[in-house]
Amino acid sequence: MTILVTGGAGFIGSNFVLDWFAQGTEPLVNLDKLTYAGNPENLKPLKDSPAHVFVHGDIGDRKAVRRLLEKHTPRAIVHFAAESHVDRSIHGPDEFIQTNILGTFALLEETRSWWEKQAPSQRDEFRFLHVSTDEVFGSLAPLDPPFNESTRFAPSSPYAASKASADHLVRAYHHTYALPTLIVNCSNNYGPYQFPEKLIPLMILNAITHKPLPVYGEGGHVRDWLFVRDHCAAIRQVLASGRVGETYNVGGHNQKTNVEVVNAICALLDEARPHSKIRHSTLITFVKDRPGHDRRYAMDISKIALQLGWGPTETFESGLRKTVAWYLDNPEWVAHVTSGTYRHWMEKNYANRGEA
Ligand code: NAD
Ligand code: DAU
Repeated sequence: MTILVTGGAGFIGSNFVLDWFAQGTEPLVNLDKLTYAGNPENLKPLKDSPAHVFVHGDIGDRKAVRRLLEKHTPRAIVHFAAESHVDRSIHGPDEFIQTNILGTFALLEETRSWWEKQAPSQRDEFRFLHVSTDEVFGSLAPLDPPFNESTRFAPSSPYAASKASADHLVRAYHHTYALPTLIVNCSNNYGPYQFPEKLIPLMILNAITHKPLPVYGEGGHVRDWLFVRDHCAAIRQVLASGRVGETYNVGGHNQKTNVEVVNAICALLDEARPHSKIRHSTLITFVKDRPGHDRRYAMDISKIALQLGWGPTETFESGLRKTVAWYLDNPEWVAHVTSGTYRHWMEKNYANRGEA
């Protein structure tokens, strides 16, 4: 038995792969293009593990995908690979269309034609699990009920639209070809190994180097935060017992405004890295808002809780404390990911924001 993971050198993918081997010994093939967000250092703890096979490649390379399927005959595919940052999708949507839509299509097509040739029992057992996002549902007003699995899609950014398209393709492959698919739509993750373009690691790293903390707009936008290892546990649970063809919403029951999140990070840093002259929260700077910025996300997780018994185990307080400690304890990882092209991105994204 083997599983194939795509995007397993990124933030959630690498946490999933590390947890996979912490839980068992089933071999795992990890296909990753190693874009700016993919980092082999995340997988260092597995360097002596023959059960982890890393393959440097693109999900859109159909021949490479075909070879992998034929060689390893996976019992499941867990598909994380994507361009994942909303701001980057606003500056340049092309890669999002390429990987998230066309790449997912290539992976589905190759999977379908390989799967159709397998023995009936293997076909029945096979699973294609697609990792998606709450952003496919669009934005909530302050008093709206949370998104559930029947909420209609209304994506706002090119990133969200590309993920929604991929979700539609995955659903279509189940309805049309009976490919045994599963989808998880999850809210904002945080934790170790997250690339510091995203809110939480960006704020931690800027604060410890006493740089401004750029909060978009007036900081009242709400996200539903989930510790990454809880998301990985949800994916394992859906893979093991999810009903074929269904989608599951995953979230943290944990809605916070951005300014609450940034203040919580600052308070933890005041404790862990006291600065002689200032409190870290004085670094908060309100800057020009993200275009088309979704106001609020929140997830109704009753389906996965009732059907599969999953729920978050980490509170925001405990998860954020672990996350801040991880970034402080891993200066080498931080130094490697914040050199070179990272600096160009920071200049591009923050150059024209000024103060709000
Ligand atoms: P990430 O950007 O950290 O990692 C993406 C990984 O995919 C990288 O390792 C990258 O090298 C790889 N990749 C990109 N294009 C590829 C291609 N064409 N072929 C093969 N590999 C490729 O992303 P993440 O935050 O870990 O997100 C993983 C998945 O989870 C994405 O599908 C994302 O949409 C979804 N998701 C993320 C969050 C979140 O809060 N981060 C929440 C819900 C869902
Ligand atoms: O909801 C799930 C999604 O969460 C995932 O699908 C995406 O892959 C992931 O990137 C994340 O999207 P967001 O846009 O919500 O995450 P981000 O960390 O970029 O921003 C979180 C909030 O913080 C958002 O309201 C924008 C705000 N923000 C972000 C940055 C980078 C700031 O105020 N300042 C910043 O510098």
